[in-house]
Amino acid sequence: MKNKCFTREEKEEVLRWAEDSSWINQERYEDDEAYLACVEDILENPVFQSMDYFMQHGDTTCKAHCIKVSYLSYRICRRFGWDYVQTARAGLLHDLFLYDWHTHAKETGEHFHGFTHPRRALANAEKYFDLTDKEKDMILRHMWPLTPVPPKSREGMAIIYADKFCGLAETAARVKRWVLYSLRAGRTA
Ligand SMILES: [Fe+2]
Ligand SMILES: [Fe+2]
Repeated sequence: MKNKCFTREEKEEVLRWAEDSSWINQERYEDDEAYLACVEDILENPVFQSMDYFMQHGDTTCKAHCIKVSYLSYRICRRFGWDYVQTARAGLLHDLFLYDWHTHAKETGEHFHGFTHPRRALANAEKYFDLTDKEKDMILRHMWPLTPVPPKSREGMAIIYADKFCGLAETAARVKRWVLYSLRAGRTA
């Protein structure tokens, strides 16, 4: 039986691009034509593009974060022979809440972004895109286990894994850069 697990090199590659958004800024995901065929209409949509104006984790924008989550969950699903098309599409839209969550509570009095943003993302995604029931479920359930109901599909679990992995890597990368900067500044003081 063919080993479907990622190799060590592949895991290291995934960690590199989860931590560093430069490949997103250079639009290198467009080199993967099979991926692009799944999601091109979403990537070109101005509503999707507007996520570039909102920060997500560290210095990663919501748009960059969503592309990373989409691309990682797409790669996982392709590797395991799962439904990668709907996964790639739902991954792109999973955080389409379209506000700055860092200032959202202060501006609106709504303090539970972690719990409520999947529903807001789904409402926005339904407004601007045609979604399947499976895609809707993947978007709505992506914060499990913080929200109590898990997704109905294994592809939804792949998005949850990719989201947690990328979120942690994005935050850790910012801390790493800050520590390096502080050490260099200390050395030259
Ligand atoms: Fe989210
Ligand atoms: Fe996310």
